[in-house]
Amino acid sequence: MTDIDTILFNKYLDSANKTDPIKYVGKVSKVQGLLIESKGPQAIIGEICRIVAPKGRGIIRAEVVGLKDETVQLMAYEETDGIEIGDRVIALGSRLEVPVSDRLLGRVLDALGNPIDDKGEIASEFMYPALTSPPDPLTRRRVTERIITGVRAIDGLLAVGKGQRLGIFAGSGVGKSTLLGMIARNTTADVNVVALIGERGREVNDFIENDLGPEGLARSVLVVTPSNSPPLARLRGAYVATAVAEYFRDQGKDVMLLFDSVTRFARAMREIGLASGEPPAQRGYPPSMFDSMPKLLERSGTSDKGSITGFYTILVDGDDMDEPVADTVRGILDGHIVLSRDLAQGYHYPAIDILDSISRLAPSVTGEATKKAAGIIRRNMAAYAKAEDLINVGAYHHGSNPEIDEAIAKHGYIEKFLIQDVDEPSSLEETLEGLSAITGVNIPQEEMTDNNEIQAVKRPRVKETKSNEIIKPANIEDNTMALNSVAALFSSMTN
Ligand SMILES: Nc1ncnc2c1ncn2[C@@H]1O[C@H](COP(=O)(O)OP(=O)(O)OP(=O)(O)O)[C@@H](O)[C@H]1O
Ligand SMILES: [Mg+2]
Repeated sequence: MTDIDTILFNKYLDSANKTDPIKYVGKVSKVQGLLIESKGPQAIIGEICRIVAPKGRGIIRAEVVGLKDETVQLMAYEETDGIEIGDRVIALGSRLEVPVSDRLLGRVLDALGNPIDDKGEIASEFMYPALTSPPDPLTRRRVTERIITGVRAIDGLLAVGKGQRLGIFAGSGVGKSTLLGMIARNTTADVNVVALIGERGREVNDFIENDLGPEGLARSVLVVTPSNSPPLARLRGAYVATAVAEYFRDQGKDVMLLFDSVTRFARAMREIGLASGEPPAQRGYPPSMFDSMPKLLERSGTSDKGSITGFYTILVDGDDMDEPVADTVRGILDGHIVLSRDLAQGYHYPAIDILDSISRLAPSVTGEATKKAAGIIRRNMAAYAKAEDLINVGAYHHGSNPEIDEAIAKHGYIEKFLIQDVDEPSSLEETLEGLSAITGVNIPQEEMTDNNEIQAVKRPRVKETKSNEIIKPANIEDNTMALNSVAALFSSMTN
């Protein structure tokens, strides 16, 4: 027998040993909507059961979601067609566990962690619990190192630390998934775990072929539970993806967890809550949603071994940032990236609204010069935004306000810096050179590596070059040379 055969054999032997044919078998007594009720078996909440439905699809996997007197309430991971009263319900004696190993890389998994690509059995050696607690806060390392996303707007102006968790908030069709794809392909993380929860089925292949490509896929694991899968599958897919990320973090890796979308996860929870009789709280979301969300999101972040950097997308209907899911998630995460429909409509992609977005840990992971340059750009953008209406109708007169004059002079360069093609990666060095060229702040080489722990702690004094004068409004007229060098830099970037 090969190693894989032995692992497989032991797995089946284990399951056989776990089965007690009398105590752990019940009978279906009711099926209503998503909820299945049975008399017995003896089981705990969260335990996995098999419903044997000979007239339906054979074996249907389900999970215990409630217990009431003798009645066990279950929800299925699969369609429930063909279940009959009296069908056998077999409790498997364990809660949801995910088979994990390094062989998961390059693979696509379902809500239970089983492969759904046609690349064969994975035969992982270890099992990780899908439902577990976040690491002990006292053992978590501080976030002090930066992780590179390859997206200029993020690495330049919203620096992200290894183990930081950010929300990407946007209305529908503004570019959330495309931005996640860009990050997956260009990040310096060791492993990507991509959770596609409740998204359209056709987007899955698009994501694999267009956004990840063969190289991206080779260092990624995808967990896919499309919108047409039952709500329990969508819910558990989120936990399975997080467990896979935890496995790689335990191996000392820097993991990038790209989660699309938290809103569909919350909606799955709403469907389950309502079906099992929970009272609806805000906008129909059951109280359990507000309890489960922090438990799931807190599982990413740093541990004593490695890190999980999380990007979680949140759909904000009509750009309503105060709807319950957006509001709950924003309070838990360490920053938010807001995508703007106006920018997307102007074909400014990625459509990140810099002034509305914030990375709370950016100051801990960037050096002093980078911080200074990012601050200058933000100030320029804010000055431009304030005066934009006047500028657009031609009511602003050059020379009235030096700050606005400077903002107008740099506006085009900042736009060019922020706009980035999907297949155009940008290294940290290129990104920071761009920042430096626009602002004139000399960013030292040490800040251009992705380990800025030392720079952030030491706070070195920044030696500024002459071109730094560009930030002084009095000299704005003399900046033709500096701006020409920015123009040259950008034309070399885009060629
Ligand atoms: N970086 C980009 N460059 C060019 N076009 C883009 C970019 N990002 C998004 N788009 C355009 O916007 C469309 C929607 O993008 P995407 O699917 O990423 O949005 P989404 O916010 O994930 O949408 P949904 O809410 O439907 O999930 C894409 O089909 C594409 O036409
Ligand atoms: Mg999408």
